[in-house]
Amino acid sequence: MNRIPLRFHLNDAEIGEFIDSGTTLLSLLRDKLGLTATKSGCNQGSCGACTVLINGAPQLSCLVLAARCEGKSVATLEGVSDNGTLHPLQRAFMDGFAAQCGFCTPGMIIAAKALLDRNPDPDRGEVIDAISGNICRCTGYEPIIDAILAAAAEMRGGKRKSA
Ligand code: FES
Ligand code: FES
Repeated sequence: MNRIPLRFHLNDAEIGEFIDSGTTLLSLLRDKLGLTATKSGCNQGSCGACTVLINGAPQLSCLVLAARCEGKSVATLEGVSDNGTLHPLQRAFMDGFAAQCGFCTPGMIIAAKALLDRNPDPDRGEVIDAISGNICRCTGYEPIIDAILAAAAEMRGGKRKSA
């Protein structure tokens, strides 16, 4: 495999690395950079556990070659909290028991953040749609959907969606 240089923005840092050209973004994050919040589940694009944001859009990092991130902005769960202060989504997941084993949680929160960043006032169907690629074996999904709606309401200042 070729060794190639890679520069990209990761959470609040600029990253410069030499990587094998076939390295996936998931492998780079977990195995080389030590950012293990992003989970490796199926490693074939089926479970959503590896979801990260690339230029603000949710992507399955197990299917993305790291080399494709040259010059882009990547966000993982490590970058969601603010200097140790949990993001409203993280608090809502805790308060609403939306995480049990927690394996799906990083991908769920990233997928939910992508939704709330573009639509701060989603309805239940829009939340379900946004996490439709993320599999959870534990919760039955309802606490996750409720947590995302609760976080959205908190981020809007407690206002509930009208009708
Ligand atoms: S680990 Fe990437 S979709 Fe399952
Ligand atoms: S909390 Fe266990 S897979 Fe979702």
